Amino acid sequence: MKPANMAVVLVAAGRGVRAGFETPKQYQALAGMPVATRTLDALARLLPDALIVPVIHPADQVLFDAAARRSRARNLHAAVAGGATRQVSVLAGLKVLHEEMRSDIIVLIHDVARPFLTEQIILRGLNAAAVDGASVPALPVADALKTVDAGGVLTGVIDRGSARVVQTPQIFRLGLIYDAHLRAEAAGLTDFADDAAVAAWAGHPVSTFAGDPDNVKLTTREDFALAEARLLSELSDI
Ligand code: CTP
Ligand code: MG
Repeated sequence: MKPANMAVVLVAAGRGVRAGFETPKQYQALAGMPVATRTLDALARLLPDALIVPVIHPADQVLFDAAARRSRARNLHAAVAGGATRQVSVLAGLKVLHEEMRSDIIVLIHDVARPFLTEQIILRGLNAAAVDGASVPALPVADALKTVDAGGVLTGVIDRGSARVVQTPQIFRLGLIYDAHLRAEAAGLTDFADDAAVAAWAGHPVSTFAGDPDNVKLTTREDFALAEARLLSELSDI
């Protein structure tokens, strides 16, 4: 096996509360195959040489092992225990990479709940991150954006032109994002929504590249139903 010059932190320690299945959503079958298996397969296909560091909930070890065994991923690190927030889970994965790899490698931080990443996203993202050191997939917003008060009454307007929906994989030079995470942790901040926010808080410019509307994060049961319908219709097209 070639020594990896790239790595993936695959965050999978969430509980999937909004999806509300009996098992966390990443181990739920989507058209017959667990979401985590699908995401591992996509990563193995698109980044065959990258070391994948899965970050899981300790209670899910058996479920994760079963999903990983069904996948084609071969360059898989032993699973690392995540924490109470996504940010804490990411840092657990970055710590392992910091100990085992050079700080100038590129790391992709990816939600296991996004099994539909594409070659185009990876190519655009690696190009952008090679230049900028920090780059994230983003989409323009089609609908009008407003703010509301606690009662749901409109209070203002957000400029749609400068708004973006941000996805994963978010791509960084390891040293940059590891240091940013360590500083956030030391400042007592542990609930940034994503790694772009951690990097920006630490003062790093974060560039964007084009994401893909199909690269959805499976969040609710409705997302599962839509994704399943899409997969089955793709199958029937063949
Ligand atoms: N995640 C994690 N550790 C946490 C929380 C989230 O590794 N403490 C991961 C999830 O497994 C997921 C990604 O971060 O792959 C994005 O989080 P989200 O979609 O919110 O998943 P969950 O937190 O599992 O879902 P919910 O918020 O509905 O409980
Ligand atoms: Mg969550």
